[in-house]
Amino acid sequence: MTKKPNSTILCKLSELNDLTSKTFNVKIKRKSTDIFLIRKNNHIYAYENICPHAQAPLEWNPDEFLDEKKETIICALHGARFSIEEGDCLGGPCEGIGLTAVAVDVINDDIFLTKS
Ligand code: FES
Repeated sequence: MTKKPNSTILCKLSELNDLTSKTFNVKIKRKSTDIFLIRKNNHIYAYENICPHAQAPLEWNPDEFLDEKKETIICALHGARFSIEEGDCLGGPCEGIGLTAVAVDVINDDIFLTKS
């Protein structure tokens, strides 16, 4: 399959094991933005690395965003929880405000940032 022109390759799909994450700094609408990918059941989910509660980065350690059971994304600062699949707020001080999704494509073994 042909790679999409004008797209940014983030990493190889094979670099992400199931229920692991990876962070990147990318340009979205010409603005430098920190994002992260999570692989779950062979699907890639991507979000901006900004908690809607206090605009803080979410990760506990570099490339670690999930709770102990690896069931939800959890903010390291005050413990807000978000669904992996939708980024919806599931509890905590996020007060119903979810994560901002980032569009990505997977073509063969490459994960691309989708150009908007
Ligand atoms: S900054 Fe994430 S819960 Fe407060």
